[in-house]
Amino acid sequence: MCGIVGYIGSEQAVPILIDSLKTLEYRGYDSAGVTVYNGKLETYKVAGRIMELEKVLPIDTPGNVGIGHTRWATHGKPETRNAHPHLSSNVSVVHNGIIENYMVLKERLIGLGYEFKSDTDTEVIAHLLHFNMNHDGGKHLLDGLTETIKELEGSYAIAAMCEEEPDIIAFARKDSPLVIGIGKGSNYAASDVTAFLKHTREVIFISDNEVGLLRSDSFEIFDLNGNSVSRDIEIIEWNLEAAEKAGYEHFMLKEIHEQPTSIRNTFAGKLSEIEGTVTLDELYLQPEEVKRLKRATIIACGTSWNAGILGKYLFEKLAGIHTDIETASEFRYSNPILCGEELTIAITQSGETADTLAAVRSSTSYGCRSIAITNVVGSTITRESDSVLYTRAGPEIGVAATKTFTAQLLVLYMLAINLGRTRGVISAAEAKDLIAGIKRLPGQIQKVLDRKDAINECAIQFADKRDYFFIGRYLNYPVALEGALKLKEISYIHAEGYAAGELKHGPLALITDETPVVAIATKGHTYEKILSNIKEVKARNATVIAVANDDDTEIEKYVDVVIRVPSSHELLAPVLSSVALQLLSYYTALARDCSIDKPRNLAKSVTVE
Ligand code: G6P
Repeated sequence: MCGIVGYIGSEQAVPILIDSLKTLEYRGYDSAGVTVYNGKLETYKVAGRIMELEKVLPIDTPGNVGIGHTRWATHGKPETRNAHPHLSSNVSVVHNGIIENYMVLKERLIGLGYEFKSDTDTEVIAHLLHFNMNHDGGKHLLDGLTETIKELEGSYAIAAMCEEEPDIIAFARKDSPLVIGIGKGSNYAASDVTAFLKHTREVIFISDNEVGLLRSDSFEIFDLNGNSVSRDIEIIEWNLEAAEKAGYEHFMLKEIHEQPTSIRNTFAGKLSEIEGTVTLDELYLQPEEVKRLKRATIIACGTSWNAGILGKYLFEKLAGIHTDIETASEFRYSNPILCGEELTIAITQSGETADTLAAVRSSTSYGCRSIAITNVVGSTITRESDSVLYTRAGPEIGVAATKTFTAQLLVLYMLAINLGRTRGVISAAEAKDLIAGIKRLPGQIQKVLDRKDAINECAIQFADKRDYFFIGRYLNYPVALEGALKLKEISYIHAEGYAAGELKHGPLALITDETPVVAIATKGHTYEKILSNIKEVKARNATVIAVANDDDTEIEKYVDVVIRVPSSHELLAPVLSSVALQLLSYYTALARDCSIDKPRNLAKSVTVE
């Protein structure tokens, strides 16, 4: 996903901008570019990685102000001419988002004599800004930008420079993340705080329909009517070390290994084993409201959606609330039947997924109460929901979600127990049992991690296969889906997750001796059922890899390879199995020499529809 950066201060801008762009690489990108003011605007851009940009951009280019961009193609191929910044004479613009009315604007601007060099929607912003600054007696950059965004439909985070006003960077935001960093004698703008965390932890999250400007020693924020907006500075606690690889070969492996800690952080201060209660201070729902709840709708995409399926089972079992799980991109167009008494739960690690935000807005328009489960403090979803439950997993750089997924599962357990206790669906004794189980999870995850060599061996054994199946039942069904998603994301092996009972309705036709089948077979009330499904695929010559509990002495009779996980409370087993499958995907991708942290075509944060 695109990332924008801006720097203005007393230091040379280019090294800072390049460094900032590198910290945004995790968002996924295909091109990069920079404009720096060096007596005039100088722009350098390339299709490809930032290291390609460094080859054409002299690192010692003078200039103390500049903007930069990493692009993820939406309009026009990943080619240099489509990379940002986009220019219009003396104006340079970087943009994250999509301008929906760009064709109409483009035709108008062509009619006015502007010549377009790219296929992008962004270039209309540059020309429109130039037009607005230069017709009608002339305007300053900020006024020109304010006028420009009033004509834009769609989403944007914009940073802009102009040759005649080299002492400012102007910015604007709607429906796309933008944060400014306040330094000492220097200021920053970026799509997310990691871009400038090395320089400052003091930040302001810009809201929708705000514009503003940065000078080296000051900043101003305005609404669209030109009224000054006063905002508190927030202090970001994450330090940059937390976002470094800490000696691991990949961010993904580091993040998999962080899970004992991240899980502990997720539940820290919330569990009382003595009382059998979960305290969620950030949950702004009155007990009476909770008791009246008839239905909940979980909305999410990707990995977060897989977490949501487990959430559905948990809310139904522990809280007695009928729960639907919806794919955000479908929900908004599906005429949902909502009467306002339902609870909407949006799960999104980034807090910026466009489809999830749109679906939440749609459900809020019916008057539904909403809860957001997210990892990113200050992200857009947090400003659009009644309550926010943070997963507290720390920054996740690998595109494939790992620690944010297990942290989401933990929040879902805690929310289900909290609601279930309020509604009187589970007893204190049942809650205590679960809470004790949750507290054991960090140590149990560590045991799974300690067995990584055995999982690596298994991964290597099947790394050359073309297709994989993952099967599970009930609580292990979302584990199967997530296991398959992880494998396809980073190893590019075709993998399907299936509810094991559905195999006979189609997928069995694809099972051969060349198709490994991963069966999630932890102990629980569907254990016998999954054994039958294992026998079905064995009868078709499949090689079966089972994820099974340490104390399961039976499983080896039926399968070819066993990946062991500690025995746990039945409801909590998905956390441990998921960690084991993350390692299986990781080592498979490693054996296939794939680009693990940045898989092809994928982005960490998908802020367009
Ligand atoms: C992208 C990421 C996935 C993620 C999905 C939803 O596709 O690559 O890892 O699961 O977006 O993102 P969210 O931030 O809403 O959880």
